[in-house]
Amino acid sequence: MKKFLVIGNPIEHSLSPKLHNYWLKSYNLSGIYGKLEASEKDLPELCTSIKKGDLDGLNVTVPFKKSIIPYLDILSGDALRTQSVNTISLDNGNLVGNNTDIDGFELSIKKINYDVYNKTVLILGAGGVVPSIIYALQRMNASKIFVSNRTKKKADHLKELFEEIEIIEWGDLPESDMIINATSLGLKKNDTFGLDFSKYAENKFFYDVIYAPFLTEFSEAGNSQNNLSENGFNMFLFQAQKAFDIWHNVKPEINQGLVGFLKS
Ligand code: ATR
Repeated sequence: MKKFLVIGNPIEHSLSPKLHNYWLKSYNLSGIYGKLEASEKDLPELCTSIKKGDLDGLNVTVPFKKSIIPYLDILSGDALRTQSVNTISLDNGNLVGNNTDIDGFELSIKKINYDVYNKTVLILGAGGVVPSIIYALQRMNASKIFVSNRTKKKADHLKELFEEIEIIEWGDLPESDMIINATSLGLKKNDTFGLDFSKYAENKFFYDVIYAPFLTEFSEAGNSQNNLSENGFNMFLFQAQKAFDIWHNVKPEINQGLVGFLKS
């Protein structure tokens, strides 16, 4: 039986096992998908396990998307560009680092027919998923991308990968068409930004990468004042769909039954 894992820290909240095990069963594939709260020192051994055939694939989440890279043999173009890996597979004995977050983000935007072309975007946060979001936004031809992070130094590092972005102070809220929460603020019930988003009124798009809880202070801001709001649930589904395809050569279906099951 094939074995897959998602690793991260924390990992408790991850819906990936529930999703991948549902698909494995639906397509009559023999396999099991679990989760592991890992630390940096576990990374080499986890990668060796794939080479030895004890494991068949890994999903990687915060905070290991970059630190896993030295243990891999090959990076896909997307993973190389963003220095971020979320899916590891074995190809002819080589450990391959893939990035399915980029497509996941892009497909979630396309699903609701939002057109990023020529839009100004403000990204809040500079954590593991942000390089993928910036790359996807550039691919969709956003005209301007601001990045604001509480710890500015971390945002400055992003500028080394994407020189066109503009780093601004935490708390500055420039005129933008789309505002993205890529911080972890909202994961906990009483989290608050302490920022006044009310200037973003009429036809602005609030995108919260968080999907559990389903509603956050940030996504609520997008639900008011004639704005559009989306959370990270569809991005999560689409990145997983692509990872499943990489491992099993099957593009699994996303349908209402699956969505209901995941929300139950
Ligand atoms: P990592 O930073 O380890 O990659 P992440 O979950 O991808 O983890 O990112 C967490 C993001 O949420 C960071 O941008 C973090 O800002 P810092 O770089 O300053 O830590 C942001 N964040 C977390 N708590 C926050 C808070 N109370 N206020 C503002 N930003 C916060």
